[in-house]
Amino acid sequence: MVYLSREEVEILNGERGEGLALAMEAVVKVAEVLRAPKLVKVSSAHISGVSYRNLGEEGAGFLEELASKGVRFSVPTTVNPAGFDLEAYGEMRVGEEEYELQMRIVRALTSMGARVTLNCTPYLINPPSFGEHLAWAESNAVLYANSVIGARTNREGGPLSVLEAIVGRAPYVGLHTDEGRAPTILVDSSRVRDFVERTGAFAALGYLVGAESKVGVPLLVNGPRNLDLPGNLRLFLAAVGASSSIGMVLVEGVSPEFKHAEGLEQITLEEGDLRSVLERWSGEDFDAVVLGCPHLSPGELAELASRLKGFKVRKRVLVFTSRWSAARAAEAIAALKSSGVEVYMDTCMVVGNLSALGVRKCATDSAKAAYYLSNQGYQVLLAPRDALLKAMLEG
Ligand code: F3S
Repeated sequence: MVYLSREEVEILNGERGEGLALAMEAVVKVAEVLRAPKLVKVSSAHISGVSYRNLGEEGAGFLEELASKGVRFSVPTTVNPAGFDLEAYGEMRVGEEEYELQMRIVRALTSMGARVTLNCTPYLINPPSFGEHLAWAESNAVLYANSVIGARTNREGGPLSVLEAIVGRAPYVGLHTDEGRAPTILVDSSRVRDFVERTGAFAALGYLVGAESKVGVPLLVNGPRNLDLPGNLRLFLAAVGASSSIGMVLVEGVSPEFKHAEGLEQITLEEGDLRSVLERWSGEDFDAVVLGCPHLSPGELAELASRLKGFKVRKRVLVFTSRWSAARAAEAIAALKSSGVEVYMDTCMVVGNLSALGVRKCATDSAKAAYYLSNQGYQVLLAPRDALLKAMLEG
């Protein structure tokens, strides 16, 4: 039995409109299945899975129907990447018909009041505070919010996040609760620390932490010293999300809720296992380097531009970022383009269509991208960004 406040009962009974009632009914049903004692108010939502390829006609039609009924999001709501760059869709070989299908989704979300940011880093655009409850889909964002900021969100599915954004509430279970945020397994990375510090294999480390822990809340101790640099941390957390269903890692020296704990099951990461992760995506040749999973931040764009200053890239380099970040790094974007880098916004290498851009074999610094791109049939090389940058340059 889910406890509902008087306001929630009114919504459920249709006193605030049919659309809101339908959304509340679905959220309450999910809460019942998850055995949540109540709902919790959320301060923002982030919706994933908004490409037409993902939603299909049914999903797009559902959003349009909600929008036409006048349903509005009741909390600030941002949106994950779409299937292509909405401005450079011609360069991405997207036809008018495909463009229009995606735009139906964009228009529906916009009319429901979403900020259609088309990015996977809502923690940069609309940063939550410690302890705030959220309804975020998109695993890398969920992991960042929980692990780095101490905000509270489960890894929601795309459709559920739409409904939660409408009612402004989520089932009070899992990572919303104190018990759900307690560590479940101790992960000691002392034996791989030097290797990661030396090679920059933060994405591989994240993939391994996820693969070894699988579920729950890992407590990561003895991590590499430079794991706390934002770019490293984001590659690490995105990779945890790719290899597991984990939504939070308590990282020593990073997570505000990190506390040493006794009596946990313990695993010690080994260098050989980390090398195996890297070997899994060890394509020797590649026709493009793809960076920006998660979307590059303004700081990362500036750093990349300064590394490439005065050089022309030797291979194709595709960079994915958000329009929000690009607007805050306009000089860097111009410099990257003059170095021969292709910059795409609103989309990413996984949700978009790399093969339409002529890419079959790619190199990336993101284990999340490596995982999903290899599942899509691409030949992938996973290597730290530094190593890829060296390969990109010509003197
Ligand atoms: Fe973001 Fe796409 Fe990667 S949504 S985390 S860039 S798979």
